[in-house]
Amino acid sequence: MSVEQRTQVGIIGAGPAGLMLGRLLSLHGIDSVIIESRSQSYVIDRVRAGVLEQGTVDLMHEAGLAERLGRLGLRHEGIYLAFNGGRHRIDMTALTNGRAITIYGQNEVIRDLIDARVAAALPLHFEAPAVAIRDIETRQPVIEYEMAGERKRIRCDFVAGCDGFHGIARSAIPVGVLQSYERTYPFAWLGVLADAAPTSEELVYSLHPRGFALFSMRSPTVTRLYLQCDPDTDVTAWPDDRVWKELTTRLSTDDGWRPAEGTITQKAVTPMRSVVSEPMHHGRLFLAGDSAHIVPPTGAKGLNLAMADVYRLSLALHDFYTTTRTDLLATYSTRGVRRTWAAQRFSWLMTSLLHRINPDNPFDYKRQLAELEYLVGSRAAMTSLSESYVGAAFD
Ligand code: FAD
Ligand code: DHB
Repeated sequence: MSVEQRTQVGIIGAGPAGLMLGRLLSLHGIDSVIIESRSQSYVIDRVRAGVLEQGTVDLMHEAGLAERLGRLGLRHEGIYLAFNGGRHRIDMTALTNGRAITIYGQNEVIRDLIDARVAAALPLHFEAPAVAIRDIETRQPVIEYEMAGERKRIRCDFVAGCDGFHGIARSAIPVGVLQSYERTYPFAWLGVLADAAPTSEELVYSLHPRGFALFSMRSPTVTRLYLQCDPDTDVTAWPDDRVWKELTTRLSTDDGWRPAEGTITQKAVTPMRSVVSEPMHHGRLFLAGDSAHIVPPTGAKGLNLAMADVYRLSLALHDFYTTTRTDLLATYSTRGVRRTWAAQRFSWLMTSLLHRINPDNPFDYKRQLAELEYLVGSRAAMTSLSESYVGAAFD
């Protein structure tokens, strides 16, 4: 016989979406149980996003979790676009009435959220994969999961599917209801983390004849860098000296700027794809974050989109529990899908602007250079890019 627990919201996944949702619900006095298939150290150590939109920073404040962010986060008011040997700064803050982005690693966000949940002694189970979601068309859906060799059940009012792209929640929406829109890009990113002091205070996005490169950072002593590569790239084919040679070639500009080399502490290949699943809600199941949508990383929207989802969901659930109204829950998906497509548009734009698409045909490269020249020479075009980059307010 399986052990059954009862809660108001059963949350699958302890990524940024699931953990932030749990935090926001607890602040509204709503109970939740979070289950996560991986171990705590795996979830914390996973190196991923680093750019927080203003809305995500504001949400960390609202969640009472901004102490370390305030101390360690790096506020950036601009970015550089590099092409044809030149490096051009876009003053995003001046162009968006004072909005900015903040560099703060996703693993730091995760650490803050886990610490808060553990300090509040709220249920968070690691190495506890959800294996089935049942009865979502009833008022008492059930999540079945496994933990320490035992099969368990969570009976709840709502299920939040925050289990990322490879989770099970999306497939609990019946075939025929769920629509999926997908695009896979013919390239990937090789990302590295290096113990090297950043040589630029702001990010540098570069289009080079050999492909895209990105210079980013995590702290005053750690640089984060990415290279466009083939999707089937094996990291073992990229020893450190090859990585530095390629990064230096693709990033160096005629003014003498280049990244500083250092010890590489992490190296991984990330595929690039766009996926939108609609609707984000069926019955008592709500999808949030990567379980509902994936954006290619150029433009740094994934984590921020996940945060916007759970903010919207937490308000809708709060409204339901305080007034029994369901209209915010009913519009959760349409409002989310609109924001998702806006993020898809921008991520696609940045990806197609900055990657070598067909290296055998120089036409596209020349056209991309013309586009970039226009962009850095037009206040209107730079304003448009900046508005999307810093992100719209969460609604
Ligand atoms: P996830 O972080 O994937 O979390 C889902 C969790 O659910 C995981 O911990 C998983 O183990 C768990 N899970 C899965 N299946 C189950 C199950 N059956 N039962 C229980 N648990 C389960 N975004 C940005 O905004 N800015 C950036 O700068 C940026 N850069 C990126 C760089 C890279 C290299 C990569 C890979 C991504 C980047 N992203 C960026 C995207 C961002 O990391 C994701 O969008 C974000 O992690 C989504 O959060 P999530 O909580 O929805 O999903
Ligand atoms: C980072 C990731 C991104 O996808 C991006 O567009 C900018 C920065 C980063 O990991 O720092």
